[in-house]
Amino acid sequence: MPIPQEFIQELKSRTDIVDVISSYVNLKKAGRNMVGLCPFHTEKTPSFNVSRENEFFHCFGCGVGGDVITFVRRIENLDYIDAVKFLAQRAGMSMPEKDFDSGITNLKNRIYEANREAARFYHKQLYTPQGKEALEYLRKRGLTEKTIIHFGLGYSPQSRFELVNHLKSKGFSQQEMIQANLANLSQKNYPFDRFSDRVMFPIIDLRGNVIAFGGRIMSDIKPKYLNTSDTPVFNKSRNLFALQFAKNKANGQLILVEGYMDVIALHQAGIENAVATLGTSLTTEQAIVLKRYCDEVVVCYDADQAGQKATARAISILREAGLRIRILTVPDGKDPDEYIKNHGEQGTARFRMLLEKSGSDVRFQLDTLRKRYNIDLTEQRVEYLTQASRLLAGLDNSIEQNVYLSELAQELNVDKAALKNQMHRYERQNRRDHQKREQRYIQEHISARNDKINNEKFYNLRAANAEEALLALIMLNPDAADTVFSGVSKEQFITSFNRKVYEILKKHAMQGGEFSLTDISGEFSNDEVSSIAKILASHPRENDAVQAAREYMQVLAEENEKMSPEQIAQADTQTLMEQLQKLKEKKK
Ligand code: UTP
Ligand code: MN
Repeated sequence: MPIPQEFIQELKSRTDIVDVISSYVNLKKAGRNMVGLCPFHTEKTPSFNVSRENEFFHCFGCGVGGDVITFVRRIENLDYIDAVKFLAQRAGMSMPEKDFDSGITNLKNRIYEANREAARFYHKQLYTPQGKEALEYLRKRGLTEKTIIHFGLGYSPQSRFELVNHLKSKGFSQQEMIQANLANLSQKNYPFDRFSDRVMFPIIDLRGNVIAFGGRIMSDIKPKYLNTSDTPVFNKSRNLFALQFAKNKANGQLILVEGYMDVIALHQAGIENAVATLGTSLTTEQAIVLKRYCDEVVVCYDADQAGQKATARAISILREAGLRIRILTVPDGKDPDEYIKNHGEQGTARFRMLLEKSGSDVRFQLDTLRKRYNIDLTEQRVEYLTQASRLLAGLDNSIEQNVYLSELAQELNVDKAALKNQMHRYERQNRRDHQKREQRYIQEHISARNDKINNEKFYNLRAANAEEALLALIMLNPDAADTVFSGVSKEQFITSFNRKVYEILKKHAMQGGEFSLTDISGEFSNDEVSSIAKILASHPRENDAVQAAREYMQVLAEENEKMSPEQIAQADTQTLMEQLQKLKEKKK
């Protein structure tokens, strides 16, 4: 690793893992640890643990874990160096950029530059003869000159080589164009433009980098929109279109629409807090990003069946992220873009009225439910109320539950207490179901058989458990570390993943470094770090660490004496008899 150990140690001393994680997760004290809802999987009962004293986090639900650097890597989608930079900045430490630039950081910067150059190139094309049709298309769709410039819209020429040649003339390599997904490689191994004859929508991140493009065809050919695939700088499930503008106009609220054109039409109409996903349905990561910039999201999807289904999905994801939700349905099955355009000068005012009128997500769900029943028939009325109380049982806020119970009772003229009773029954059932589901999840994910990182563990369970105990001892009880380092050679580690961890810890010790998870996480992948955090989480600090170390070392020594299945297959009779004798003696 190019980052010096002293730098990581300084960073560690200035960074409180609880403090960092608290800006993403609502943590509460539980014993010696802090717990909250895991940001990396969907759950209702908190199994995400953070240990301030031992400087790591671990989710007993999904198995993700690690040190503070790994947390930032995962949640911000950064590589190791960038995560260290992120935390260094937060801690007020300066990091001499150049010394630490890894290959990946260089590549990313080149991709940002290639994308910026491409955006400039596409935009200029609009004002050439071959881009005339695209410019007219945009104007016909009601976009002003100012909007076209504001969003940096453009046109990708039909010929498949213009961008490639242009980028080449600016010094970009074939490799860089392909990594940026601006070009594809032909069967004969020459690069050609990915986008051809499309209106281009640049996608820009919060730092102002062009990270990707969406391209719309002007005819009926499919696909209607072609988007950049994921690249080292672009992950479509973590970014949102126009968030770089909308976040400054949010004022507590963002509007989530389906399409690029919807966003652009709304912004042009002065409603500048609209964003859209990038050709996929809303993800948990995007909800977490939204939560950083607002408390309330207005979901404004198409009124058709697909749109309503997507709305229901978005509701549950946004709820999990702790956002308030309103649902805006545009009348007559129009999307926001068409609605605003159809209403001409009144478009903005009318859309604002729809915003005012938009109801809560619970109202939306109750209304959706109600449409399924004929309330005039007693049986169906009962069924509706039963399902409605079930829906309310899923809400966390009891004031909110109470408000809707009253509304329902009044609306259908039934006893509120009876509805409430039924709701409580569902709440108890939900709790039981959740517990069961989470237990199953834990069993599946934590069992040795499913250990993907250490796949030798299942066949060497006793040895692997002793190895893990020793690793935990070193990291959690530095006073026992010397005993282990001097008493166990790396060859005695039977499973290779644990051996690798041991080697790295030992290397750090020999260089006089420290060896908490934070000190070594740079040498492992995110998943590997999760595995190490799991080891730490399942080993409490020992009172007599040196004694415990001796016992585990003994177990490991015994396991080393056993012959492996391969050795048994190859051994001669004499050796096998000796081995058998040894085992018998031990039994006595
Ligand atoms: P829509 O088809 O609703 O797009 O898809 P739109 O924005 O209303 O398009 P116009 O008005 O016909 O130009 C919504 C979004 O889904 C993604 C795009 O992000 C689009 O904005 N999409 C749609 C794709 O990625 N690929 C497609 O082929 C179609
Ligand atoms: Mn549209």
